[in-house]
Amino acid sequence: MRALPGEYKARFDRDGYVILEDAVERATLETLKGAIAEHVAAHDHEASRAVFRTDDQDAGREETFFASARGIQAFLEAEALDEEGSLSAPRDRCFNKIGHALHDLDPRFEALARSEVVKDAFAVGGLEYPRLVQSMVIFKPAGIGGEVRWHQDASYLLTEPQRVVGLWVALEDADRTNGCLWMAPGSHRAPLRERYEVDWGSRDGTLHDLDSTPWPDEALPLEVRAGSMVVFHDHIPHRSEANRSARSRVAVTLHAHEAGAAWAPENWLQRGSLPDFDL
Ligand code: FE2
Repeated sequence: MRALPGEYKARFDRDGYVILEDAVERATLETLKGAIAEHVAAHDHEASRAVFRTDDQDAGREETFFASARGIQAFLEAEALDEEGSLSAPRDRCFNKIGHALHDLDPRFEALARSEVVKDAFAVGGLEYPRLVQSMVIFKPAGIGGEVRWHQDASYLLTEPQRVVGLWVALEDADRTNGCLWMAPGSHRAPLRERYEVDWGSRDGTLHDLDSTPWPDEALPLEVRAGSMVVFHDHIPHRSEANRSARSRVAVTLHAHEAGAAWAPENWLQRGSLPDFDL
């Protein structure tokens, strides 16, 4: 990192996010892209047609999604399946995401998770003892990748006290034409607007409204080069637009919480018998 870690920490505290440029080496990006290509090639879409979308109030994603907390599960783009359930586009353009235990189960993602820069980034976000709970590939494929609506990650990843930090690593250049992140500096100070809770008796997940504070009406596009990393607060609203460009916008995200903060039993993400992944 070029700036002193203290400068990054000050920016994170002020804005709710900070960009670490050129945080991940090109060789690591290539290794991760190779790993992702293997997972894409291995996915059997006949056996699993799980789709991920954010325009349906999170309905209908339950069992496959819950199980993905402990495995490596691919989710397709809503537009990627035709009426017969076949892939409507080339295979490498049909995926929305893969998650959420890549760091536990794929040594190439584990190496990223255990890298110095990742530990430093979580420290910038204020975590003293980061415990990694999820890892994810987000594809945003060219021409197909859908919009992700405004949300706060704490709605899905709650601890007591609330101490979760996200990292977003660009594997490819991201700009406003191919669906980069948008955030409003300082907006992490607003309350949590929604909470996604699972009733493990009925195994239903519900998105509850908690607070009527509007989503930001002005935000900045976080246009970053491949290898850059965004460190972001669990309360900062963020969104991304559909990718109608000819370039994909693949990113890897990692989320950790302070090890001493208790993981909410109503969170959809339950790691079961996976060992704690402490950095
Ligand atoms: Fe998010």
